[in-house]
Amino acid sequence: MRKIIIAIDGYSACGKSTTARAVAQELNYRYIDSGAMYRAVTLYFLDHHVALTNPKEVDRALQQIKVSFVVNSKGSSETFLNGINVEKEIRKMRISENVSQVSTIRAVRVAMVEQQRRMGKDRGVVMDGRDIGTVVFPEAELKVFVTAEILVRAFRRQKELLERDDLVDIDSIIENLQQRDSIDSNRAESPLRKAEDATGIDTTHITIDEQVDEVIRLALTKMIRPPK
Ligand code: CDP
Repeated sequence: MRKIIIAIDGYSACGKSTTARAVAQELNYRYIDSGAMYRAVTLYFLDHHVALTNPKEVDRALQQIKVSFVVNSKGSSETFLNGINVEKEIRKMRISENVSQVSTIRAVRVAMVEQQRRMGKDRGVVMDGRDIGTVVFPEAELKVFVTAEILVRAFRRQKELLERDDLVDIDSIIENLQQRDSIDSNRAESPLRKAEDATGIDTTHITIDEQVDEVIRLALTKMIRPPK
């Protein structure tokens, strides 16, 4: 079977990452969380007080940033910023509240997209994000676009945060998701949109296992080489 690229895009907290991670594990593919890269950049910018409106400062900061992923002993991928494990830190609300603004900056996107393409060059990857099927890998063999109702998304995100000992009230989560949806969909650079050839999956009423099975089923149809 040939190795393919699986691009999973969609709105915040629709279950993209959970699905992508499980699909990658099942197919023995590499999972790349592109959102974690934008979150790591945001963490660096906040901690170093980088002025987002100053292109020189942004460029200088980007040259200092190296984001990488390391698979831990439990088999899940963790995000490292300049060699430090930031997996927990980048999921906090202070990052969620700033990441979409940082992600509108062209120089940030250029730097991240270059790294993402490098990570996917040998194929055999599942990458999730907002612009994977439209910009990063427009030639991806399988593109999936995930949606879900806002309340379901908010409760899922609240549960995830709680599992990290972070109690956030539901109204703040809804507000953050809606604000990010709006910035992500309306920005000039690589806005969030469904690629024409993407398969839509509404995850409101289905379980993670059902989402995973559906993506695997779609992937297998693409992995079987067409006859010569
Ligand atoms: O996990 P969640 O759905 O909250 O979002 P994420 O995948 O961690 O992405 C965080 C933010 O990064 C998004 O709201 C976007 O602003 C930005 N992002 C992006 O611009 N392009 C991507 N390919 C991935 C994320």
